[in-house]
Amino acid sequence: MKLRLNKSNRLVLGAILIAISVAFFSCSDQKESYELNIPEWFPKPEIPADNPLTTKKVKLGKQLFFDARFSSDFSLSCASCHLPAYAFSDTVAFSSGVHKRSGERNSPTLVNVAYKPHFFKDGGIESLELQALAPIDHPGEMDISTTTIVDRLRKDSLYQQSFKEVFNSGVTMRGITYALAAYQRTLIYGNSKYDRVVHEKSASFSDLEKRGQNLFNSDSLNCSKCHSGVFFTNYSFQNNGLKANYADSGRAKVTSDPDDAGKFVVLTLRNVEVTGPYMYDGSLKSLSQVIDHYASGGSDHRNKSTLIDGFSLSDNNKKALIAYLKTLTDKEFQQNPNQ
Ligand code: HEC
Ligand code: HEC
Repeated sequence: MKLRLNKSNRLVLGAILIAISVAFFSCSDQKESYELNIPEWFPKPEIPADNPLTTKKVKLGKQLFFDARFSSDFSLSCASCHLPAYAFSDTVAFSSGVHKRSGERNSPTLVNVAYKPHFFKDGGIESLELQALAPIDHPGEMDISTTTIVDRLRKDSLYQQSFKEVFNSGVTMRGITYALAAYQRTLIYGNSKYDRVVHEKSASFSDLEKRGQNLFNSDSLNCSKCHSGVFFTNYSFQNNGLKANYADSGRAKVTSDPDDAGKFVVLTLRNVEVTGPYMYDGSLKSLSQVIDHYASGGSDHRNKSTLIDGFSLSDNNKKALIAYLKTLTDKEFQQNPNQ
């Protein structure tokens, strides 16, 4: 039997279809998955199965990231030490925490943090979800108890509504850490001149930059042996000869192994132009000082890597190396500070 639809039947059917699609989209909107903007030459980041990215969760995480209710005296948000315009790092050696207390380590960039296999310079934290708890009750950072934060945010009806939509619960610490992690995983940037030259092949290096690239990859400088791969780090822990005596024992804080003393995670060099001052303690102020440090071979330390053995570089070659490092800057987060 042929189904013949007369005009009124068609109207009814149309209305039903519209109603179904409205119901579908308003429901899927809540759980609408967030599409990461990943350059083709980047791997896919691992997203934990229990914390899928959704548009609303990422939006909530972003609000939390910029919210000063996270610090005991309402003076600091996550973004106070992870400034969007500086690749989500800070411009001082030690960010000051609440009450102007000073931290102990330099604030790292959060760009491409989704790819990190471990967090902190000593690798002491294994997941982004756990990481957000660390600065919160750290007296030198946000100095606030998790119950105080939850109490503060619970008073905000907009947060209540967002948590309900995203987690189907009230404001909880778990929800806060999950949303913050989700937001931070979206900070993926791979649109530097380096990417346009090497991966997209839509631009070319100047002679100076090209010379810098060759030096960086050379066996006399060894930079690319530790700062390797698409993120310019192999994520290993190394002693790069920064000090003869470290007040901060680095990786050994986690392993208690004296062979790990003075070892810190190899830092990414993407956006290194704007992540200074440099090293775990921000003790090197400029890229020029960083290169002088490596050229000198660094301080003697029993755990110093054999790859740090000094080299000599003409002024022109030093300029070339710096020019190359500057091609690793993605300007997008600077133009779009609220990312
Ligand atoms: C007072 C400054 C300060 C504030 C506020 C702060 N951070 Fe940090 N953050 C740091 C410092 C310093 C480190 C490096 C700690 C270490 O390596 O031991 C760090 C490390 C991190 C890391 C690890 C990155 C890596 O490469 O290992 C993440 C992720 C992070 N912070 C996110 C956050 C979030 C989310 C907030 C808000 C809840 C926040 N931070 C608030 C200073 C701060
Ligand atoms: C043995 C491995 C190793 C080699 C070789 C090496 N680095 Fe590093 N690099 C590191 C480690 C580890 C850190 C982090 C040290 C710290 O946190 O104090 C680092 C940090 C840096 C930083 C600071 C990044 C920041 O945001 O603070 C720069 C810049 C840098 N290296 C450039 C270079 C250059 C240029 C070369 C070659 C001349 C080079 N590195 C060779 C291991 C290495």
